[in-house]
Amino acid sequence: MVNYLNYANVSNNLTLTKKLPMKKTQPVDIHALYLASVQDPMSDIERISNIYSEIFQKQAKSFREDFSGTFALSCCWVQSDIERSAIAIDIDHETVEYGKKNYLANMNESEQGRLQAIEGNCIVETEAVDVIATFNFSYCLLHKRSELLDYFKKCHTSLNDNGMMIMDNFGGSDSEIPEVQERDIEHADHLGPFIFEFERKSFNPIDRLAHYGIHFKFPDGREVMNAYTYHFRMWSLTELKDLLEEAGFSKSHVYWEKCDKDGFGNGEFYQTLEEENSVNWNAYIVGVK
Ligand SMILES: C[S@@+](CC[C@H](N)C(=O)[O-])C[C@H]1O[C@@H](n2cnc3c(N)ncnc32)[C@H](O)[C@@H]1O
Repeated sequence: MVNYLNYANVSNNLTLTKKLPMKKTQPVDIHALYLASVQDPMSDIERISNIYSEIFQKQAKSFREDFSGTFALSCCWVQSDIERSAIAIDIDHETVEYGKKNYLANMNESEQGRLQAIEGNCIVETEAVDVIATFNFSYCLLHKRSELLDYFKKCHTSLNDNGMMIMDNFGGSDSEIPEVQERDIEHADHLGPFIFEFERKSFNPIDRLAHYGIHFKFPDGREVMNAYTYHFRMWSLTELKDLLEEAGFSKSHVYWEKCDKDGFGNGEFYQTLEEENSVNWNAYIVGVK
């Protein structure tokens, strides 16, 4: 049972703005909205654990979460097994502090003792772990090939012999055009209903840089536009496989998400070598040390 979440503790000072007129203000917790709409740490942990066991025929114990944000994934990792430990690294002070105050503080002594939350640059060598996870496309914040290669090399050094790094990736024929994807979030714990929007504002096919914004909108008309913005380089799976090999990884595998009958991803992934392109797809890429 994961018990670190504490949405009641609204800890940042952002305010909701009403479009017209802009009178009413009320504190809003964008990290809680982000967790409810973007992240699913319990399912991620289950998938990471299954992929690791499939590759190494044993259970992963030690974990490093890079570009970790509020390190929800690391919290779930240490709560998933008493023998599991985690290192979470994020460069942003406010974000790391939020995780410490809202998640870490609600965990028991044993769990807290097995989680190190570090504020700093994750392009770094650390003590060796079984798994390094870089989620929500955060490696796409590294725009230069030389930077990403350096990062992968440092990850390779920071893995045990039976170690892997795992990243998510997305693509498809619709993934390079400006668009807004919208989802109703109706049943988030401790949060009223809201709309999550993921906007691709631009994509430059020459340098493959895409500009994204995340917006949250509420039934009464209030909205938080650009609660998060990102400039991602849209690395292809082929480029990532080449870079992992160059960094020293012995193998890399792609895990592709299955679709339901309406063509939407269903959260189940399988290892594959060849796929047909579709309008939108999701995958994991795993580098094996
Ligand atoms: C797209 S968010 C991902 C957050 C989280 N991993 C998730 O799954 O939702 C990217 C995060 O990377 C952090 N970041 C950016 N550059 C970084 C760096 N060089 N080292 C560590 N963290 C970094 C930002 O502060 C931000 O929290």
